[in-house]
Amino acid sequence: MAVVGFDIGFQNNYIAVAKVITFCFLITNSKNTVFNFKRFHGRSFDDIIVQSERANVPYDLVPVNDGRVGAKVMYLDKEHQFSIEQLTAMLLTKLKDTAEANIQKKVVDCVISVPTFFTDAERRRVLDAVQIAGLNCLRLMNDTTAVALSYGIYKEDLPSPDEKPKIVILVDMGHSAFQVSACAFKKGKLKVLATAFDTHFGGRDFDQRLVEYFCTEFNAKYKLDVKSRVRALLRLQQECEKLKKLMSSSSMDIPLNIECLIDEKDVSGKMNRSHFEELCADLIERVTVPLVTVMEQAELQVQNVSAVEIVGGGTRIPAVRAKIAKFFGKDVSSTLNADEAVARGCALQCAMLSPAFKVREFSITDVTPFPISLSWSTEGDECHEVFGKNHAIPFSKIITFYRKNPFILEVSYSDPSSLPYPESKIGKYHTQLLFLAVVRIFSQEMYTLFISSKWDSPPTQVNLQF
Ligand SMILES: Nc1ncnc2c1ncn2[C@@H]1O[C@H](COP(=O)(O)OP(=O)(O)OP(=O)(O)O)[C@@H](O)[C@H]1O
Ligand SMILES: *[C@@H]1O[C@H](CO)[C@@H](O)[C@H](O)[C@H]1NC(C)=O
Ligand SMILES: *[C@@H]1O[C@H](CO)[C@@H](O)[C@H](O)[C@H]1NC(C)=O
Ligand SMILES: *[C@@H]1O[C@H](CO)[C@@H](O)[C@H](O)[C@H]1NC(C)=O
Ligand SMILES: [Mg+2]
Repeated sequence: MAVVGFDIGFQNNYIAVAKVITFCFLITNSKNTVFNFKRFHGRSFDDIIVQSERANVPYDLVPVNDGRVGAKVMYLDKEHQFSIEQLTAMLLTKLKDTAEANIQKKVVDCVISVPTFFTDAERRRVLDAVQIAGLNCLRLMNDTTAVALSYGIYKEDLPSPDEKPKIVILVDMGHSAFQVSACAFKKGKLKVLATAFDTHFGGRDFDQRLVEYFCTEFNAKYKLDVKSRVRALLRLQQECEKLKKLMSSSSMDIPLNIECLIDEKDVSGKMNRSHFEELCADLIERVTVPLVTVMEQAELQVQNVSAVEIVGGGTRIPAVRAKIAKFFGKDVSSTLNADEAVARGCALQCAMLSPAFKVREFSITDVTPFPISLSWSTEGDECHEVFGKNHAIPFSKIITFYRKNPFILEVSYSDPSSLPYPESKIGKYHTQLLFLAVVRIFSQEMYTLFISSKWDSPPTQVNLQF
């Protein structure tokens, strides 16, 4: 019996496997084969995010199933159209096979990470993919919460229950997104105080600056229009990413040479760290925005922060680290493995949820970054916010209705304009003829209503319809 954590990144996927008895970890990485579709879950083909990403993917996006976005890809030597859920399922299957081949055991139970800003609809699409892949996802875990668990579980010096909590800021800059959370740690416990994010900001934006620079330079120097050739542009992007990584460990001039970029023409250029930082000055400034937000929302001052832990490949850029350190007025720490922390946190969570494992207890309280409202109709619409911004999750609330006639209950995000997603509805429930309904909203990654017709009868669980 093995339990597994999957971190499906925009660029890299990590699998962490926890094994019984020894509880050792095995981590594997795999690059996406068909990649960059992580941000398309449940979106329509016309969605602006989809359309703006179209140029960045090396395959064709097509409308499938009622106008949802899908992709045209070669599979078993034939061209096929797949929905994003199918692609995700194929990826999960590949990760599962990799894990099974490594540990010689069957993998079914898993925990999968998702960005903290994924809405209910996106999370459901991920769960659809899990089902197609034949896996059993015990929980979806927020990226930075997984990092927080990896951070806290083996720390021996956490405050006891009656002491002040240790405040730690967790920062994850990946290829496509930037996420920050403020957490309060005590022995055996972590509470997320607030999360903040820049949903379209990550390592690739820094690559893109280099691409723009060299496109202009090659145009002037060789009269080559790299942007007009898809393959040439992709090669330049890859070389620029390599260059960016090299600049993280060297401040000297680094050459960029590409043979036969366009029409047999070889090109060359160079770049160094200080010049790169000039080109990316505004991106480096942008790093502080979510840091300010998370501190405001958690009602913290920098002097309250005991540690700033950074993960994700993007935090290897020296200027990004320096900016974070400057903001908090202290050195950032990277005690966790920057690449594996998310997958490891997921595997730990999976082990905790699995009866086959004995892991030390660690309680996690997360937050919802988007306020959630409940509305109901019969005699005029009424709407109430049930979970405000950064409300603790899981949490249940009891709301009582006195109604003679059937009515409709709707759960939705309160502020559609703050969502990084076009759908604000979460669920809808048509109540039967009830004289009295007690509704308990227990919110985790799924929204469930508990309805009963009498005060003292146990509420029945009702799954929300779409
Ligand atoms: N040494 C380095 N210096 C600078 N950038 C690096 C370095 N190593 C990796 N990166 C960058 O980190 C990014 C990948 O990080 P990571 O694997 O955390 O992303 P991801 O999890 O796939 O994406 P996301 O979390 O956005 O879904 C890429 O942009 C990569 O170029
Ligand atoms: C970095 O590049 C700039 C612009 O080409 C140049 O002026 C500077 O001297 C270079 N610095 C180093 C350390 O090579
Ligand atoms: C944060 O620091 C301030 C000033 O040092 C202090 O008054 C406050 O209690 C601290 N808050 C927390 C949550 O530790
Ligand atoms: C992750 O965040 C979502 C909303 O952002 C929340 O509903 C969910 O409970 C969190 N996940 C966990 C495992 O706590
Ligand atoms: Mg990531």
